[in-house]
Amino acid sequence: MDYPEGATPLDPNESAGLKFPHIRTRGELDQLEQVNIQDGLRWLARQKNPDVLTEQFVRQLHQQLFGEVWEWAGTFRNTEKSIGIAPEQIAVALRNLLDDVRYWIEHEVYTPREIGLRFHHSLVKVHLFPNGNGRHARIIADALLEKNLHEKPVDWSDRSLQNAGRHRSEYIAALKRADTGDYQALLDKFSVKEL
Ligand SMILES: Nc1ncnc2c1ncn2[C@@H]1O[C@H](COP(=O)(O)OP(=O)(O)OP(=O)(O)O)[C@@H](O)[C@H]1O
Ligand SMILES: [Mg+2]
Repeated sequence: MDYPEGATPLDPNESAGLKFPHIRTRGELDQLEQVNIQDGLRWLARQKNPDVLTEQFVRQLHQQLFGEVWEWAGTFRNTEKSIGIAPEQIAVALRNLLDDVRYWIEHEVYTPREIGLRFHHSLVKVHLFPNGNGRHARIIADALLEKNLHEKPVDWSDRSLQNAGRHRSEYIAALKRADTGDYQALLDKFSVKEL
């Protein structure tokens, strides 16, 4: 299968976790995942006051988004990827991130939008799962903004972000800038747009 820029290929063990063994093309896989994600989003909509900033919720959301397609949905990766920290550090890194985000909210360290975008970037930088990190981290950033901070979600244009093209290149470039501690490109690209 071919992958767009900034995607992380699966290792053979992870590929073996596909619940539909006859899938051959990325298009077929995308389709299956998309149906699962729609179910996951319906599950999310039913969660009225979830505590988004817990390991339990972070994993449960991944499970709801990808669990019909992948055996390992909702479980942290245990293989190295080109993006992300060493697998054995994931649980601690997530706990530190969730603590940081709570602190940012409580002390209004950043605007809600910036908190959402920093949360998103840190999640994909840690790269919790074997796959689906980008989609999961976009959805959970919006869940934090909408359900916990009562703010507008980010307009990610998610379907177009998943394919190669200018929108994705700018998004990946902004994440790479954020990897260096500079969040301006990410903030510019995903600023609140008035309707
Ligand atoms: N240099 C980087 N720093 C931080 N995050 C990155 C970097 N490059 C890519 N990413 C993130 O990793 C994601 C890809 O990881 P993964 O393949 O697990 O997610 P996905 O949901 O399957 O893919 P996609 O986001 O393309 O739909 C990208 O969408 C992006 O969010
Ligand atoms: Mg992927």
